[in-house]
Amino acid sequence: MSRALATNSQTTGPDTPQVLGQLLPAGLDPSRLPAHVALIMDGNGRWARRRGLPRVMGHREGVEALKRSLRLCSDWGIGTLTAYAFSTENWNRPGEEVSFLMALFERVLERELQGLERERVRIRFLGDLTPLPAGLRRLIADATARTAANDGIRFNVCTNYGGRAELVGAARRLAERVARGELDPAAIDEASFAAELHTAGEHDPDLLIRTSGEQRLSNFLLWQLAYAELHITDVLWPDFDAAALRNALLDYQSRQRRFGGVEPVG
Ligand code: IPE
Ligand code: IPE
Ligand code: MG
Repeated sequence: MSRALATNSQTTGPDTPQVLGQLLPAGLDPSRLPAHVALIMDGNGRWARRRGLPRVMGHREGVEALKRSLRLCSDWGIGTLTAYAFSTENWNRPGEEVSFLMALFERVLERELQGLERERVRIRFLGDLTPLPAGLRRLIADATARTAANDGIRFNVCTNYGGRAELVGAARRLAERVARGELDPAAIDEASFAAELHTAGEHDPDLLIRTSGEQRLSNFLLWQLAYAELHITDVLWPDFDAAALRNALLDYQSRQRRFGGVEPVG
């Protein structure tokens, strides 16, 4: 088992196949887990500041929290994890912080790819990847291709992702097809629109977790989160652990999802 996904190896050996919900903590109903969890990993800077460390140390520690969360979601039988790693607005940060983050993404991807392959994780990067450094883009292309056929957890890393840019891009592509005479505007519906998004082919997230207490979406998955349950925790992202994930899932399981309907009687 890779270091990336190795926490529960005390109870299951490296080659033991995992049964859905086998390692779920007490109190969680394996039949009512979210199929897709979306994650706004926030609070790295504050985590570092509280320790008198530079902000970038928070980002380094944040990588550990992401590896931990991916492993837990995989072990607990969650089908898809979509994590917000870098927003279209994060370019507004100081140049050194942006450069550190890009170098960190490269280092981590290089280091973890073998483990992800071994764990049959299917990794994808959602967002406009063109402004990313060439080395990172090469690693992303390689990781995406090498894990595309994997049947384990689907792991989406939103990198240079912005919900508004994604919606504008979808509208533009549909308009271009209309202009070329290939598409009747009357044929544009929610399904054909969703098929133009970075998340084409994914189910919408059932649960959104945001760490560090901020009560906003920060341009994340504006279309896809239409009916997600929201769990906001004060835990700072580098401190997000099994107990915090369990709390989020318990919170999710306490909700009644109505999708605009009414409470079932009885
Ligand atoms: C989230 O932590 C990581 C990224 C946005 C890349 P922050 O860096 O936003 O941490 P805070 O919000 O400043 O504490
Ligand atoms: C959202 O966090 C983006 C990511 C987690 C990658 P931010 O820290 O950028 O969000 P704001 O600026 O507080 O809204
Ligand atoms: Mg933040």
